[in-house]
Amino acid sequence: MKLFLDTAAIDDIPTAARWGVLDGVTTNPSLFAKVGGSYDAVLREICALTSGPVSAEVVAEDVEGMLREGRHFAALAPNIVVKVPMGEAGLEAIARLADEAIKTNCTLIFSANQGLLAAKAGASLLSPFVGRLDDINENGMTVIRELANIVKIHGLASEVLVASVRHPRHVTDAALAGAHIATVPLNVLRQMVRHPLTDSGTVQFRRDWMAAQAASAGGEVDEPAATLAGAAS
Ligand code: G3P
Repeated sequence: MKLFLDTAAIDDIPTAARWGVLDGVTTNPSLFAKVGGSYDAVLREICALTSGPVSAEVVAEDVEGMLREGRHFAALAPNIVVKVPMGEAGLEAIARLADEAIKTNCTLIFSANQGLLAAKAGASLLSPFVGRLDDINENGMTVIRELANIVKIHGLASEVLVASVRHPRHVTDAALAGAHIATVPLNVLRQMVRHPLTDSGTVQFRRDWMAAQAASAGGEVDEPAATLAGAAS
């Protein structure tokens, strides 16, 4: 499963890129509002930091407005994907942008049927919001499982991108449900790295190594010698 960062904060991106786990970035007006400045400038900078798809969201409510904003974003960089909210106007804009070979990400999806419609309209990415469904006592992962199954059974070209991810378990369940992509905030990505047993195991291995070095050196071992390189010297 591919992993995208869900952020408009430029500083978040190099961290995930350095770990070798970054496949793309998603932004939206709320994430952009947290950083401010020029949306175009932020998008250009993000597109320079990753070769993966970068989603830029339209805010117009009419079809012509969505097309105007979509064409503008698509012209900013080759890896831009235009994010269009689900709805009648959104479906028409997605279909017309697809005719112009402009990739789209249909966002604010909350049911498998909405995802099916967006796929048929030509959206490259389908973004169901699991966290917001869970917030209202619905099971967001059910929508992911259903939509991923529909895409697979009917051989649809779209990819299911799990959005509104709130915790690491959403990522595990999304992968098991057959989603193609999960977009996660950096703090969730950091949580995915950690496990208390990894921490305690690392400490124990180091302690055992130092004890072994001390034993073979017939006494106390100072810090530099505690590392493999130090021991070899
Ligand atoms: O990509 C959509 C995501 O940013 C929404 O997340 O946590 O506001 O539901 P959230």
